[in-house]
Amino acid sequence: MIMVLKIENLVKRYGSLAALKGLNLEVKQGQVYGFLGPNGAGKSTTILSTLGLIYPQDGRIELFGEEVFRGGHYNEGKLVNMKGRIGYMPEHATLWDFLTPLQTLDILGQSFGIPKDERLKRARELLETVNLWDVKDRKVGKLSKGMRQRLLLAQALINDPELLILDEPMTGLDPRGIAEFKDIIRKQKKDGKTVFFSSHILAHVEEVCDTVGVIVRGKLRVEDSIDNIKSDFLKKGGYLILLETSKPVNFDGVEWKVERVSETKYKIKAAADVREQVNDLVWEQGAKILQLMVRVPSLEEIFLKMVNEEDEGHGH
Ligand SMILES: Nc1ncnc2c1ncn2[C@@H]1O[C@H](COP(=O)(O)OP(=O)(O)OP(=O)(O)O)[C@@H](O)[C@H]1O
Ligand SMILES: [Mg+2]
Repeated sequence: MIMVLKIENLVKRYGSLAALKGLNLEVKQGQVYGFLGPNGAGKSTTILSTLGLIYPQDGRIELFGEEVFRGGHYNEGKLVNMKGRIGYMPEHATLWDFLTPLQTLDILGQSFGIPKDERLKRARELLETVNLWDVKDRKVGKLSKGMRQRLLLAQALINDPELLILDEPMTGLDPRGIAEFKDIIRKQKKDGKTVFFSSHILAHVEEVCDTVGVIVRGKLRVEDSIDNIKSDFLKKGGYLILLETSKPVNFDGVEWKVERVSETKYKIKAAADVREQVNDLVWEQGAKILQLMVRVPSLEEIFLKMVNEEDEGHGH
């Protein structure tokens, strides 16, 4: 598997504030990687480091297999080469309000040295991709927030990048805008491109990403496929079982929590999957299962739990 981005033990301090505390991260070719974390976790700091826009104090960064940063220094030559293969949409980007979308892309294309005919063709393609062709001649200052976001995405795509890095791209978009954005990301994946985008909103990455990295307080808490993250936590799901019996059931030697709720009813609460053991008991002692509930945590819960666990552990 080809690694598009690899970060090892990245350390970034802003004065006395440690924003990245030995961050490790791997993005493989063709992945749509969701970089999730609460506000202030270090997402933008990670992205800015990857692009050589700030100076981390320590660690390593590889882009497309080439080492562009090590131990506090960028290899500027390599970085410039690799950046030609990257498209970037910053968190706080500015557009020229007095230009039109078409002019905006044309000027950007010029700066990339793309010849005029090709530039116009490319601009048209991109504006169609992001659904802005209809407003190609309207002043950017008159565009809606969502339209501006999409123009920023078109900008990031101007050099047909192998790796697209987006910092909170869906902020301020309405549900339709988000759905359209996700479609564009899926199209990138279909074309064999790699996408890395940050968000503090799980729902933004949930459907579109195959891999998620969760950053909390400057460290990667988990990096896995959404399916694996879900099934890992499923194993820790909660079980609630209600038993009915004509004679008292003996629960000696069981680890789960049992509460006798009436003469003939028992309520069992267990953190682990104890369905099999309960089944044995029922079989041996002649009780009946009235109700069985598996509490499946939502991804949102899982995400919040990760963020909070880290909080509890903070400072210890
Ligand atoms: N230029 C800076 N000077 C000082 N501190 C900074 C600077 N930039 C970021 N920080 C701090 O570093 C930490 C990480 O910030 P960062 O912007 O990387 O977080 P983030 O995950 O992108 O958050 P958000 O979701 O709010 O965009 C925060 O505590 C932030 O206040
Ligand atoms: Mg940020």
